Amino acid sequence: MRTIKRTFIIVVITLITTFGCKEYKGSETETSIVSAENLDEEFYRPNYHFTPKANWMNDPNGMFYLNGTYHLYFQHYPEGNVWGPMHWGHATSKDLIQWEEQPIALYPDELGLIFSGSAVVDKDNTSGFGKDGVTPVVAIYTYHNMDGEKAGDIDFQTQGIAYSLDEGMTWTKYSDNPVIKNPGIKDFRDPKVIWHNQTNKWIMSLAAGNKIMFYSSANLIDWTLQSEFGADKGEHGGVWECPDLFPIKVEGTDEEIWVLLVSINPSGPNGGSATQYFIGDFNGQNFTLDWAFANQLKRENAVWLDYGRDNYAGVTWSNIPEDDGRRLFIGWMSNWDYARDVPTYKWRSTMTIPRTLKLKKQNNDYYIASKPVAELNNFVEKNIEKEALSIETQHSLLEDKNVDLSKAKLSFTLSQLKNFMYSVKFYNTLGDTLTIGLDNANKTFFIDRRQSGKVDFSKKFAPKISTASYTAQLKAVNIDIVLDKTSVEVFYNNGMYVMTELFFPNAPFDDFSIVSEDQSFLIDDLKIETLKIP
Ligand code: FRU
Repeated sequence: MRTIKRTFIIVVITLITTFGCKEYKGSETETSIVSAENLDEEFYRPNYHFTPKANWMNDPNGMFYLNGTYHLYFQHYPEGNVWGPMHWGHATSKDLIQWEEQPIALYPDELGLIFSGSAVVDKDNTSGFGKDGVTPVVAIYTYHNMDGEKAGDIDFQTQGIAYSLDEGMTWTKYSDNPVIKNPGIKDFRDPKVIWHNQTNKWIMSLAAGNKIMFYSSANLIDWTLQSEFGADKGEHGGVWECPDLFPIKVEGTDEEIWVLLVSINPSGPNGGSATQYFIGDFNGQNFTLDWAFANQLKRENAVWLDYGRDNYAGVTWSNIPEDDGRRLFIGWMSNWDYARDVPTYKWRSTMTIPRTLKLKKQNNDYYIASKPVAELNNFVEKNIEKEALSIETQHSLLEDKNVDLSKAKLSFTLSQLKNFMYSVKFYNTLGDTLTIGLDNANKTFFIDRRQSGKVDFSKKFAPKISTASYTAQLKAVNIDIVLDKTSVEVFYNNGMYVMTELFFPNAPFDDFSIVSEDQSFLIDDLKIETLKIP
């Protein structure tokens, strides 16, 4: 494969998969539209993204790693496929890719429903919950009291804790909950706790309406308010939710800097829910913006972790061993604009692929670069590589036609970009098309799912193309794409810009092409990898 000479080419590349040469909008297909009842399992249950066996899921919660196991809890309504009384569902994995659903971890109680939160491994038993040398895992979550909400109170959200003495499988709620009462703030939730080495304390970041409040504690039980951040920073067109504060090294340096993720709903860059971030310093008491990042905010107003419409409420794992050292993230792959309307029935909602976050600095701007966890590479079963392509129009790329685009990774580099639009189009024989790419004239990355299949279940699902603006015209770009049955995760420029979106085609996408108005352009290092995940 690596012998093909590097030459300029290509107007269209068509990837022909299972059925040989097909018309772009062919109608003579035998594929039939599947009825709603069996859509879930046959068509829309993801091949490898986590989704609950049944019923509703939203935010990832309480993620921690311990003794070879990654734990993922999640907002869950086990009795219905729309949002309802929240529990913490639970899943475990040895490799971040294959998940096993476990019994429900936390049930609502007389204090309220169990909203989002986090979990920490209390190695020094600061909480005193550990018994006979067993290390406790402590979950910190929000109680949402429905009676209080119905009665029109504003103090119906409080923070509670629970502990586990069997590595997160079963939980005991603390007898004296709540540990933080409501100070008179209606939206007061989603505690994310970390251990702060420098001050030897636990730090909680809590979303409080239009800002983040930081609390500290020596024992995870008694909490003291330290400071607030953000009422006048970043995007404020919606409620702030699901914060996450953590230190990270600036890539290639020893400089440690702090990242604060803040989800907001609505008013994401392309509508509805999304996650913005701030870069700065945290001294155990206050979070202050880095001066360069403050300048960046003056230009951009808000900086987003993902510009697509379907990555929300994401946070990072705690207790990742130092010799691993990664900052591992997962998000809820949906959007409050239409999460309850998406055309699945048996279950609703999916998580993103777990991602590694890195912090990069370029021309005084900071950005978080995301990429799928390396573990995904262990599941590659077929790998087709082209170093550089010299193909005539409509040339088939694959000698091997048996490529399943509903469990695949694609990557390539466009290295001679001009002032044009470059698109990757995925399609099926029913005429559904999903287009991702970049418009180098208007300096935007984009996903266009308007023709991607079922879109009319919600007016808010696909009213327009989603875009992410970049500042200077690009000379080259590399693009990594992760595909499942109903999701595309696009990592532009080594993950500097990410766009994650759902789609619901009437038949699986089984073809793709790369097209441009550019008469000749170069595609380097094309890799098409299919995944085998039992
Ligand atoms: C975010 C969120 C959280 C809340 C949870 C309730 O999606 O609204 O703020 O804790 O969902 O399910």
